[in-house]
Amino acid sequence: MASKTLSCLGIFFCMMFLFEPLANGQLDYNFYDDLCPNLPMMVRWGVWAALRNDTRMAASLLRLHFHDCFVNGCDGSVLLDDTPNFKGEKNALPNRNSARGFEVIESIKADVERACPSIVSCADILALAAREAVILSEGPFWPVSLGRRDALTASTKAANEQLPTPFESLDNIVTKFASNGLDLRDVVVLSGAHTLGYAQCFTFKRRLFDFKGSGKPDPLLDASMVASLQGTCPNVDESNSKLAPLDVQTVYKFDNAYYKNLMTNTGLLESDQALMGNPKTAEMVNFYSTYPYLYSRDFAASMVKLGNIGVLTGQDGQIRKKCGSVNYYY
Ligand code: HEM
Ligand SMILES: *[C@@H]1O[C@H](CO)[C@@H](O)[C@H](O)[C@H]1NC(C)=O
Repeated sequence: MASKTLSCLGIFFCMMFLFEPLANGQLDYNFYDDLCPNLPMMVRWGVWAALRNDTRMAASLLRLHFHDCFVNGCDGSVLLDDTPNFKGEKNALPNRNSARGFEVIESIKADVERACPSIVSCADILALAAREAVILSEGPFWPVSLGRRDALTASTKAANEQLPTPFESLDNIVTKFASNGLDLRDVVVLSGAHTLGYAQCFTFKRRLFDFKGSGKPDPLLDASMVASLQGTCPNVDESNSKLAPLDVQTVYKFDNAYYKNLMTNTGLLESDQALMGNPKTAEMVNFYSTYPYLYSRDFAASMVKLGNIGVLTGQDGQIRKKCGSVNYYY
């Protein structure tokens, strides 16, 4: 009797293991182990080479993955060029003349295609590249599960509606995160990605000269920071695309300085500094500014959540040959 129950359980679990990945369309850490075992090394090398040429590329790849995942899921849609059939995400307001790293992903994809043709999705390459970029910036490791498939289309409108902007309220931003299954802590933790990279003057300029029609700078921006940013971003349209570091302390190092900056009113974007304007998020900022190790741990956990948003699996979507365009043949 007991052995009958046991073998029955055995078959039950066996069937679960067989069918679960297909039935639930889940991602899998070992997805490419058989068909493209060198994938992680190829991505690592490609990101390393890109950073050796342009250190900022770490920030750009991390942001590109975020912008992919926030618009209809992590499906490589951000990588698609416009076509006669659709206007893609590349030219949406948050991306146009701003999102970078497309050619890095395309070049890694070309390497991967030579080794394992039509096996690895662009969405997975981007997810791995973002992780390698953070590691090479001395940030934390997180496990990237694989098996995402690539979207067949993309939408400017969706990108404009779904990506957060630095001019909207924390409440709005929290709502956008929540619609992707991310909670208040994820908002605070993932915003810490602004420990890397740069922003163009137009994204924070109103804080420097005429904040909300006051004729004065934003009172929540440190006065000496205002002075130095006014030097980088003079009050003329010509300065709009000039760059300032999001984390003025350690622009190329992934650390918790972002939170320390918020504590001293030196966050660059209004949306960054706004994390101090809500008691719950301010407490988290205080916490992460004090405990870098716990920040690393929580960033890794939130990146896993980010990377799992709305993924296509199984027979959905396709494996693109080139990341910039869908395959018109199968
Ligand atoms: C919370 C809402 C967020 C807003 C409003 C926001 C907004 C921005 C803006 C305006 C820029 C500057 C773009 C430019 O000037 O061209 C920027 C850069 C950046 N963002 Fe965010 N962001 C947010 C969340 C995130 C998240 C969740 C990540 C990643 C996990 C991220 C990663 C980055 C990085 C790394 C850069 C620098 C990119 C580079 O130097 O190429 N951001 N963000
Ligand atoms: C190196 O980086 C610059 C931007 O800093 C870019 O214009 C150039 O294409 C990159 N070169 C290579 C070989 O990736």
